[in-house]
Amino acid sequence: MVTSLAKRRGFIYPGSEIYGGLANTYDYGPLGVELLRNIKNAWWDHFVTKRSDIYGLESSILMNPKVWEASGHVASFAEVMIDCKNCQLRTRADHLIEDYFSEKGQEKKVEGFPPEKLGGLLKENKIPCPNCKKFNWTKPRLFNNLFETSIGIISGEKSKAYLRGEIAQGMFVNFKNILDSISPKLPFGLAQSGAAFRNEITKGKLTFRTLQFNLSEFEYFFDPEIKNWEKQYDYWKEEMWKWTTNILGLSERNLRWRTHTDEERSHYSKKTEDIDYKYPWGFKELYGLAYRTDFDLKNHMEKSGVDLRYTDPETGKKFIPHVVEPTFGMDRSLLAMLFDAYTEEADGNKRRVILKLKKDFAPYKIAVFPLLANKPDLVKKARELFDKLRTAIPSVAWDDRGNIGKRYFAQDEIGTPWCVTVDFQTLENDTITIRDRDTTEQVRVSISELESWFEEKLK
Ligand code: GAP
Repeated sequence: MVTSLAKRRGFIYPGSEIYGGLANTYDYGPLGVELLRNIKNAWWDHFVTKRSDIYGLESSILMNPKVWEASGHVASFAEVMIDCKNCQLRTRADHLIEDYFSEKGQEKKVEGFPPEKLGGLLKENKIPCPNCKKFNWTKPRLFNNLFETSIGIISGEKSKAYLRGEIAQGMFVNFKNILDSISPKLPFGLAQSGAAFRNEITKGKLTFRTLQFNLSEFEYFFDPEIKNWEKQYDYWKEEMWKWTTNILGLSERNLRWRTHTDEERSHYSKKTEDIDYKYPWGFKELYGLAYRTDFDLKNHMEKSGVDLRYTDPETGKKFIPHVVEPTFGMDRSLLAMLFDAYTEEADGNKRRVILKLKKDFAPYKIAVFPLLANKPDLVKKARELFDKLRTAIPSVAWDDRGNIGKRYFAQDEIGTPWCVTVDFQTLENDTITIRDRDTTEQVRVSISELESWFEEKLK
């Protein structure tokens, strides 16, 4: 349902569709891009602008390849793949096994298991190919998720580079620049929002697992001798939950915390927990929280030869800070919001689809209609109102297609919280009706009070 609505109403389109698509790529349409921007802006506002201890950064997607060697991604950012010898389906062995058990109603976590162990599980359970149903797999083998590219234009002189696999490295390699330019005092955070790239081979569901995705995350640096890492970790765990439930407004019954197993935990982390969301295909990762210790700064200091230690301004103590990292996938946030908001209600003998998005995230806040599109007086008055509202309130839509009932249905489906209708009474006494998306109740308000009415509601 959400998949078809997302495409039909301009939220998410398959990437390069007129050429048959490109697996695991998607584009955002006019409504999707507004929703995505609202999520990204809310994240930045909440974690950066409104805090005095977190600073923003925007680092380059392309970095010196030595960054990825030092970070351990060249050696350890690997997954296990297998191919079906019958139909040539290529997939990640861990996902295949997890999906197989999930369809049987069992939750099994095998991410991070070595190739031999995954091969053993495939054999033991005779797990067939989900595409051709045959059991005829190649041996599981490792592949690196980093997206390779090359710099230079003359073949033979090109040098290998990587599209960043995570945005965190931008924060670590700029750590000295930050200390030298703005002299922050520990504890402090460095935040960034931007695109990350991974060579994913398992076909994702909508934007759940894509080759390019939008990530927002921060590294929170602290002195481990002064701040207990568990306390820092628990503080951010609570803050992440608050963001997910209070700010995004996702329903708690669709959320849970899950601790990574030793096998799946990333090479840089001492402890990782995910907030999982209950997608239609089961509980899967939405966000992650990791205690990365001093792993990254220590390795960059060793490999670059540059001193990345922090000097305590009071005691003069020099040390490498430790870091806790809350990470937030923006595409998964959008997806979870769509699933959470999607509601169907009976309306007489019709079915009303309502996207009950939180009003501050809705792509359009208000839609303005003339009651009838063929009455010039009504259209003129409605246009004037539309132009006036647009300058005061962001994201106001105009709709004069079909009849009023159809317009309400169309706006409900894209989550517009309020519809304003200019009717014959408007021409007499300058009042309009405002109809509420969730209750369908209508109130009559004077045009002179309209802006303050909405400003109050959008507070
Ligand atoms: N710096 C830590 C880091 O990158 P991660 O768990 O590998 O951690 C962070 O990724 C978040 O990015 C995940 O919690 C998820 O929301 C999102 N994510 C990861 N891979 C993705 C993909 N292929 N497509 C869409 N979102 C993805």
